[in-house]
Amino acid sequence: MKKIVVLTGAGMSAESGIATFRDSGGLWNQYKIEDVATPEGFVKNPQLVLDFYNMRRKETLAAKPNLGHIELAEMQNDYDISIITQNVDNLHEKAGSKKVLHLHGELMKVQSTKYLDLIYELNADNIEINIGDTCERGAQLRPYIVWFGEAVPMMENAIKTVQTADILVVIGTSLNVYPAAGLINYAPSGIPVYLIDPNEVKAQRAGVIYIKKGASEGVKELRELLLQ
Ligand code: OAD
Repeated sequence: MKKIVVLTGAGMSAESGIATFRDSGGLWNQYKIEDVATPEGFVKNPQLVLDFYNMRRKETLAAKPNLGHIELAEMQNDYDISIITQNVDNLHEKAGSKKVLHLHGELMKVQSTKYLDLIYELNADNIEINIGDTCERGAQLRPYIVWFGEAVPMMENAIKTVQTADILVVIGTSLNVYPAAGLINYAPSGIPVYLIDPNEVKAQRAGVIYIKKGASEGVKELRELLLQ
């Protein structure tokens, strides 16, 4: 089986009704990154940060995978598919994808602010964390999200995965945020690289095949191209 590594970003979930970050109306037009997505923001106003992610969690819980997620899961019948996602939602898993690496954390998990290996999965009927919610050793809980300025612990695994690709597919990311955006450079030279996005995205790599469509239509077209 050919190995396809898929790097996804917020555009992957746009058709599921989850806002992207940098499109017009995106989250970073409504909130300041430094307020809700940095360790400094959390120190300054922890409840604001917790509320922001409590809201994101509520949206995610209500969201359904779109055709793009579903088709990627279906492709597992014909290819060895590894997904590396910058998304913190769980829509790839909901669609049935088996190998999903979350580079920027997961909304449905929370982490101790003091004992970083204490990570808990939230269940659907308890999706909020607030000030005073603590880990089993008494330290405040925080969202299990990689904030700006923090290390990306999954990066090493992600690089190793990209290095084994026969085909690389990039879907719905503006490739603005590093180190995630740099992953495409670790793909073996000469392999086909497809980029699905309805808008223009500049990939710093030669020979990229652009599919200028949204995720659902784009993955459908990708499947047809791969059959040729
Ligand atoms: P961006 O919001 O920067 O980019 C979203 C991309 O999705 C853009 O290139 C859009 O053109 C594209 N897009 C919009 N609608 C689409 C659709 N229907 N189908 C496919 N693509 C579509 O989001 P990311 O690149 O994912 O990190 O952002 C990277 C990181 O920045 C996020 O993981 C997040 C953010 O700050 C953290 O919060 C740590």
